Amino acid sequence: MSRSVTQAPFGTTPDSQAVEIYTLTNPHGIQVRAMTYGGVIVSLKTPDRTGELGDIVLGYDDLAHYVADSPYFGAIIGRYANRIAKGRFTLDGKTYQLPVNDGPNSLHGGTKGFDKRVWDAHSVQTDSTVGVVFHRVSPDGEEGYPGTLDVTVTYTLKDDDELVIDYRATTDEDTPVNLTQHSYFNLDGAGNGDVLGQELMVNADSYTPIDSTFIPTGQIAPVAGTPFDFRTLTAIGARIDDDNQQLKWAGGYDHNFVLNRPDSLPADALVHAVHAVDPKSGRTLDVYTTEPGIQIYTGNFLDGTITGKDGKVYVHRGAFTVETQHYPDSPNEPSFPSTILHPGQTYQSRTVWKFGVQG
Ligand code: GLA
Repeated sequence: MSRSVTQAPFGTTPDSQAVEIYTLTNPHGIQVRAMTYGGVIVSLKTPDRTGELGDIVLGYDDLAHYVADSPYFGAIIGRYANRIAKGRFTLDGKTYQLPVNDGPNSLHGGTKGFDKRVWDAHSVQTDSTVGVVFHRVSPDGEEGYPGTLDVTVTYTLKDDDELVIDYRATTDEDTPVNLTQHSYFNLDGAGNGDVLGQELMVNADSYTPIDSTFIPTGQIAPVAGTPFDFRTLTAIGARIDDDNQQLKWAGGYDHNFVLNRPDSLPADALVHAVHAVDPKSGRTLDVYTTEPGIQIYTGNFLDGTITGKDGKVYVHRGAFTVETQHYPDSPNEPSFPSTILHPGQTYQSRTVWKFGVQG
């Protein structure tokens, strides 16, 4: 198999915008298809231990289903991944009100976030990589956020079976920025049951506990002795139904883990965040990131009412997400690492997904 990047039409939005889909293929047959609507990764095929390719991300077969109703399947999330309490924050003496779209809070950039916008795109290629570059300018005031935000997100598929996700943004006014990628993984194949038997190692000694509306309390709590201790490889389902207030509020895991990052490490260095294993197919996923946190969400809101690609039904806890990010609600929590981007600065963030198999 040879390395390639191709482009094809993928339909038209209800407001008549043409959508394109890019297909990245590496020499081992790993294939990523991503469209200009939301920068959505529509499919991601990797080999299992026998070498058979399978699609390991949830999604739909066509654009219309994504536009009609998608729980952020595969999308770029912005301007602010995760929640901002009551959709409100104060910056430089001014209070901003964002759309409230998740109980009392603003989630994933508001009513029409980056996941629902059509991006410009072009392909890129080197002698060991293929990629697609998504770009859009989010106008001042979009979804209530201050400043014009110029955003570039690049997906690069490498010959060594890594997908590198690079985020860059600049602004003309102080503004919060927190970008992520919302792929739902099922390493046994999208639609093949739940992920409770798949195993995770999360390189985090602590996490940010939430209130009943999923907003962090501000506390950084140790995972030791709790169902949030994934420092050694543990099945997702091993403790998910434990009698624990945090798990009950979220209906499972839907929490921000505080990644271990040695003080000596430069701020822009990658840390190993997650090692995920599916004992059944043998597929593994390793996540590396420059971000301080990662939201692990176990598809608790999936309830079997969505039929996705190839007519497959997405059952409760039929996927997990690895949303690398700054902590939720940081604009209202001064003790958390800042998410404010200033004019003249460049927001830069990198996450790497490495695909593999174990015997
Ligand atoms: C994130 C949130 C979840 C849920 C999903 C989308 O992972 O943390 O609570 O909203 O997005 O359904």
